[in-house]
Amino acid sequence: MCPVNGKLQLHDGRTAYHFQPAKFWQNDPNGTMPLLPPPSFSFLPLFRPLYHNGLYHFFYQYNPHGPLWDTGKLSWGHSVSGDLVNWAFLGTAIDPTDPFDVNGCWSGSATVLPGGRPAFLYTGRDAGGVQVQNVAFAKNPLDPLLREWEKPSCNPIIAFPADVVNNNFRDPTTAWLGRDGLWRMVVAAEVAGAGSALVYRSADFLRWERNAAPMHSSAAVPVLECPDFFPVAEHGTDGLDTSANGAGTGVKHVLKLSEFDTHQDFYMVGRYDDEGDTFSPEEPDRGDNCRRWRCLDYGQAYAAKSFFDARRNRRVQWLWVNEYDSKADDVAKGWAGVQAFPRKVWLDGDGKQLLQWPVDEIETLRTKRVGLQGTEVKAGGLHEIVGVASSQADVEVVFEIPNLEDEAESFDPDWLDPHKLCKDKGAASAHGGVGPFGLIVMASGDLQEQTAVFFRVFKHHGKYKVFMCTDLTRSSTKADVYKDAYGGFVDVDIQKDKSISLRTLIDHSVIESFGGGGRACITTRVYPEHAATSSSHLYVFNNGSGTVNVSKLEAWEMATATVNSADALDAITRS
Ligand code: FRU
Repeated sequence: MCPVNGKLQLHDGRTAYHFQPAKFWQNDPNGTMPLLPPPSFSFLPLFRPLYHNGLYHFFYQYNPHGPLWDTGKLSWGHSVSGDLVNWAFLGTAIDPTDPFDVNGCWSGSATVLPGGRPAFLYTGRDAGGVQVQNVAFAKNPLDPLLREWEKPSCNPIIAFPADVVNNNFRDPTTAWLGRDGLWRMVVAAEVAGAGSALVYRSADFLRWERNAAPMHSSAAVPVLECPDFFPVAEHGTDGLDTSANGAGTGVKHVLKLSEFDTHQDFYMVGRYDDEGDTFSPEEPDRGDNCRRWRCLDYGQAYAAKSFFDARRNRRVQWLWVNEYDSKADDVAKGWAGVQAFPRKVWLDGDGKQLLQWPVDEIETLRTKRVGLQGTEVKAGGLHEIVGVASSQADVEVVFEIPNLEDEAESFDPDWLDPHKLCKDKGAASAHGGVGPFGLIVMASGDLQEQTAVFFRVFKHHGKYKVFMCTDLTRSSTKADVYKDAYGGFVDVDIQKDKSISLRTLIDHSVIESFGGGGRACITTRVYPEHAATSSSHLYVFNNGSGTVNVSKLEAWEMATATVNSADALDAITRS
C-alpha cells in the first residue's frame, strides 16, 4: 500500500472493506454460522472479553496453495468476525485428504444441528474425480473458533446417482427440517440433460434418500450450481430460520439457482409444501428456464449463499465476485476473488422480488461525509463530488425526474437483452431522453478511464421501463482486462415515485451498485491504471435531454477494515 497525493492507494486492486483472502484463490461462499457464546460466558464477567458477543464463522472455496483455481483441489477457507466487517483468517477447515474428496472439497453449506453441533454438507470430488456428497462435523462444538472438523468414515453420504450425467452433481444447500422431523437439502444435478434441484431427506443427517420428484427441473438449462433455498417473511424485513415454514401463514420461499453458462444467479419466489417437497412459483408465466427468472445481480457476481442471522433476526447473503483481469495478473498479485459486501435480503411488498441492501454494520466504516441537496444536473451536465477519497467510498443518491412524460423515449421490444442494451445505449457515447444519468466512478483526472453506473427510462405501452447499467468499456486503459457492460431492468413504479435511488459501494476494484432501493444490483470489477499513481474522481452526470435533480446525495469516505490480515484474530475475538 503506497501513499499517493496523501491518499492510500491499493495498487494491485486489493479492496479496503470487501472480504478477500490475504493471499491465494477464493471462490464460492459456502457456509456461514453466527454462533453465540456458550451461555456460561455471560455469567463469568471476568472472562467476558473473549468472544462475548459470539462470532460469525464464514467458510468459502479456497486454494491454500496458490492464486488460481487450478486443478480444483480446493479446501474450505475459514474466517471469523464479530461484525461481518472485520475478519480474521483461521486457515482451512477441511482439505482434500480422503478418498471421497481427494480431488477437491467443493461447495456446500453449513447447518447447526439441534443441540448446537455445527455440520457441513459438501461436494467431494473422489479419487476418480466423481462428484459425491459428504458430511463433516465440528470436533468440539464448544471451541469458539471451531478449528477442527472431522469427516465420518460413512462418507460419501450420497453416491453419484445412475441417472445423473456429465458429472454434474453438486453444491448441497443448508439443510432444513420439515414438520415430519426429517432433514431436507437440495443438490444441483444434471438429470438426463435437465438442470435439476434434487431434494434429499434424512432422519439422522447421515443416511439420505432422494425424493422422486425434483423441486425444479428444466431441459432449457442443463447445468446448475450452488442452489439456495430459504423462507422469507411475506411482511416486514426480518429474516427467518431456514426451517421456518407455513405456506399461507405469512411465509414464502425463494429458490435460487446459479446458471453455469451465463455465470449468473436467478431466483424465483414461491410456495413450498413440505409434504411432497414441491415448490410452486409465484410467477409461473416466467417459465421453467431460470434465465427468465429474476436476476440476483446483473454484474459479475455468482454462487450466492444466504444464512439466517439469529443474532440480528435477518437473512444475510454472500456472493462471489471473480477477477476479470488476466491469470498472469492474478499470479503476480498472489490473490484472486472477493465477496460482495454481505447483504441483508428480504421480500419486497409486491411479494415477487427480493430487496438486497448492505448490512448496516458497513456504516461503522463511514468517515468523512460530503453531500448535495436539490442540485440540478442539466442535459450534458457533469458535477464532480469532491472532499472524499472516492476510490474507497459509499455513495447514496436520489435522482428526481421532473419531465418523465415528455422526455422518455419509446422502448423497442427487441431490446430484450439488457447487456446488449447497456452496450448500445451506454453512457459514454449515448445521449437519450430520460438519462443516461447516474454516477461516474473510479475516473482518472482526464476522464480517459471511467466507469458509469446509470439509469435510462423508456416508455412502453403507456408504462415506464427503468433500465440500469454499469458500463465498464472505458474502465481501464489496460488491454488484458475484461471490460463489458452489464445491465438489467429495475422493477419500480417510476411514474408514481418520479425519482429513483442509487447506492454505490466503490472499493478500488469493486463497484457494487443497488438501484431502486436494492431491487436491482450490479456488482463488477475494474482495474483502472491511473489508480496506481493518482487519485480517482467521482461525478454525477446526465446525458439525457432534460434536467434531473439530485434531491439528495451523500458520499462517505470509508475506513479500511481489517480483512484476514495476520494480526486480526486478537482484535476480533476481543471486540
Ligand atoms: C461454482 C462452482 C461449484 C463448485 C465449486 C468448485 O463456482 O463451480 O459448482 O462446487 O465452484 O470450486
